[in-house]
Amino acid sequence: MGNKIDKIFSDLEERMKYFSQLGVEYLSSPVSSSASSTIPKSPSFLSLRKDILYCQRCSLSQERKNAVPGEGNQEAELMFVGEAPGHDEDVQGQPFVGRAGQLLTKIINAMDYQRQDVFITNVIKCRPPQNRTPYKKEIEQCAPYLLKQIQMIDPRVIVALGKVAADFFIDSDLSMSLLRGNFYEFQKVRIMPTFHPSYLIRNEGNREIKKMVWEDMKKVLAVLGKK
Ligand code: URA
Repeated sequence: MGNKIDKIFSDLEERMKYFSQLGVEYLSSPVSSSASSTIPKSPSFLSLRKDILYCQRCSLSQERKNAVPGEGNQEAELMFVGEAPGHDEDVQGQPFVGRAGQLLTKIINAMDYQRQDVFITNVIKCRPPQNRTPYKKEIEQCAPYLLKQIQMIDPRVIVALGKVAADFFIDSDLSMSLLRGNFYEFQKVRIMPTFHPSYLIRNEGNREIKKMVWEDMKKVLAVLGKK
């Protein structure tokens, strides 16, 4: 028994050393186990997409025009995860196509990627009324879809855009300003939290915030071996 516990601790220590060499500062797993246990069994990306499009798990399904599963490369090394679809996304059924989306596209292009090279999605797949912040319950009910997407795509890095996305992956009370700029680890994927493009838009004249986001993206590129 004692030996078994020693072995668990020494394995854990090895694992922590490995991640710390990779620059990961914290290991976390904030998504509740009930969410992981309801991961849909969809056998393919297409069937998962259909499950999301016809989902009725929560009341947001009653008010949406379209569910927004996400789009891009199903084998992407890099994923961007935002909060929830807004008005334009609800109308078009695509993620990040409004003003914040145009800015996200610029960031992706500045990283020398096209939108179709990466995978773009949100924590929740349907628009909350008046773009309010999603409720905890809605996030929990929708979580299995994002978890399944991550499992299928198996990206190397996920950029978490804004606090809702950061909270999905990282178990911390820190503000975005303190969270951003560091890598975290979620189910063996490296997570880089950064400011949401809408926040950049709301603070348009603030060059500091822009600079911070770009610094974060440069760290992502370094991990991907691109810079
Ligand atoms: N904001 C988000 O978080 N996601 C979108 O798809 C659009 C705006």
